[in-house]
Amino acid sequence: MEVIVKPDYDQISKLAARMIADVIRNKPRCVLGLATGGTPVGTYKELIRMHEEEGLDFSQASSFNLDEYVGLEHAHDQSYWYFMNDNLFKHVNINLANVHVPDGKALDIESHCRWYDEEIRKWGGLDIQILGIGGNGHIAFNEPGTAIWSRTHWTSLDERTIADNTRFFKSVNDVPRYALTMGIGTILEARKIIMLANKDSKADAIAAAVEGAVTAMVPASTLQFHPDTTVIIDKAAASKLKRTYRTEPAKAPVAKRKR
Ligand code: GLP
Repeated sequence: MEVIVKPDYDQISKLAARMIADVIRNKPRCVLGLATGGTPVGTYKELIRMHEEEGLDFSQASSFNLDEYVGLEHAHDQSYWYFMNDNLFKHVNINLANVHVPDGKALDIESHCRWYDEEIRKWGGLDIQILGIGGNGHIAFNEPGTAIWSRTHWTSLDERTIADNTRFFKSVNDVPRYALTMGIGTILEARKIIMLANKDSKADAIAAAVEGAVTAMVPASTLQFHPDTTVIIDKAAASKLKRTYRTEPAKAPVAKRKR
């Protein structure tokens, strides 16, 4: 894991967007793994700015989202499909035929989950996966205790997740109790992962994920197994870390030839 500590949310968002834009520019037919939640909104805003002002071209890219609530249709303003369209898809030139969000209204949930994993493989695998982190250490909707090699599956939401996500709904009773989510194993197959966090409400989860032992009880800690993960956080989210970390990604050494 490479951990980068930035002064504020704006700097996190700019670095994350720059890393995603690099993937798109180097491989126009890339497969993006996308996330919802408050954390990546600034990254999407910066990608939209790059599209409008710098011509960042999404036309050949495809995408797979991490998760979706069971029971919410696309048009529901708290569905993750709606979120993605509102915060990114409708502002850039991505082809909507190439975007994928798990279907919270699927009639046969288990075969839909198997199909989702197969589809990621068919499209060539995830080139870069963006992640937030739950206050309980979850990634996507992989709650504490989820099997480390899990594939896309349905899950019931943790009490902490329901409480954290109540802010998006009218009341706690309106928060769906079930979700579909890529598994931890699915996520770990992405070629590159960036995990973002800001605010001190994430400090305990970040400390456990980055400096704690790898355990299914902290799903984000399993990223320690992944060969190319960058954790980009602000000072508040870094406040419980014991070690000191970089403020910019390390540059690969350049070999000097002897003359
Ligand atoms: C949600 C999502 C996660 C997200 C997390 C944190 O429940 N399923 O993918 O990373 O919680 O959300 P936020 O960024 O709003 O803090």
